[in-house]
Amino acid sequence: MTNDPGTESAPSAGAYEAVLEMVNGFWVAQIVRTAADLSLAEHLAAGPRTAADIAAVEGADPDATYRLMRACASLGLLSYAGDGFASTPLLAVLNQNSPLSLKSYALAQTAPGHWLTWGQTTAAVRAGGSQAHKVLGKSIFEYFAEHPDEAALFGTAMTNLSTPVILRAVDILDVSNVKTVVDVGGADGAFVLELLARNPHLEGIVLELPHAVPGAEAAATARGLADRCVAQAGDFFEQIPAGDLFLLKYIMHDWNDESCVRILRNCRQAMHPGSRVVIVEIVMGEQPVGIAPLMDMAMLTMVSSRERTLAEFDSLLSQAGLQRTNLGEITGSPYAVIEATAV
Ligand SMILES: C[S@@+](CC[C@H](N)C(=O)[O-])C[C@H]1O[C@@H](n2cnc3c(N)ncnc32)[C@H](O)[C@@H]1O
Repeated sequence: MTNDPGTESAPSAGAYEAVLEMVNGFWVAQIVRTAADLSLAEHLAAGPRTAADIAAVEGADPDATYRLMRACASLGLLSYAGDGFASTPLLAVLNQNSPLSLKSYALAQTAPGHWLTWGQTTAAVRAGGSQAHKVLGKSIFEYFAEHPDEAALFGTAMTNLSTPVILRAVDILDVSNVKTVVDVGGADGAFVLELLARNPHLEGIVLELPHAVPGAEAAATARGLADRCVAQAGDFFEQIPAGDLFLLKYIMHDWNDESCVRILRNCRQAMHPGSRVVIVEIVMGEQPVGIAPLMDMAMLTMVSSRERTLAEFDSLLSQAGLQRTNLGEITGSPYAVIEATAV
């Protein structure tokens, strides 16, 4: 095989540019991270400011801050405003106070736990599983137990990532006959808190690993729901507290089939007649494009797991003594709300 650039099949300049942009994606991720870390969105919320101003507030180098802001203007996060810079609608997404924020997500995805593990993607594909242990010495969840700041960031990042899907999932769910909702591996509890906020008759439990409990407690307090929602330290492979509705959002995609069945069986044990399990995940279709296959690579790289088809979810449910009773589609996205009851 030759690689003659003069043949008919030579790539177009557009194709070259598109791939160059993909490769430089890691520059962009780090620039966005630094914009978030220097709180550009919060500093510019009230109006344009100079790089020198921002550098002084953040204790950063003035010339390097100017160069960062110029790069942000190139990405559409900022616009030039006289000798300073102004915010844009894109930058507002990096404001931690925005209802649709990605600030914590930007910081968490580029923090060592994720960044170093993503550096092992080729090795993960060759080996067929995550190489997190090579760079972190352990799994990502074990790593978080020893790095509470990064773990707290991950909890808020999950809320960032989950919010749009949660808002749609809560619209779909009928909770009229529910009293106690258990958010199994709920991170900061964004899902159960949204249900509680809209339904005053509900009480909630966030079951989480011990390091994630303070984040869930703080989130319940911040939403004024601490009197109806408790965060409970536990292990969903051991025991799940009793309830009427069990939320499993982005949990199955972290684990292999055997582990998923164990979690679902523990839900089954904690159910009484009429209880439901609600799985919110990507459902893989035929020849998927968009976020689904990319998220699937994240699961391979980070935790040796995968996104699944509906038939695969049905199989997991049936192995745990459960059956699918409802499928709520979140239109315009690959996410679905899968409801199940005991067989
Ligand atoms: C991908 S996150 C999903 C968080 C949340 N459900 C959401 O969708 O935003 C997985 C969560 O499972 C929690 N987790 C992992 N292993 C666990 C275990 N053995 N018991 C309880 N929670 C666990 C993690 O701490 C993490 O918050």
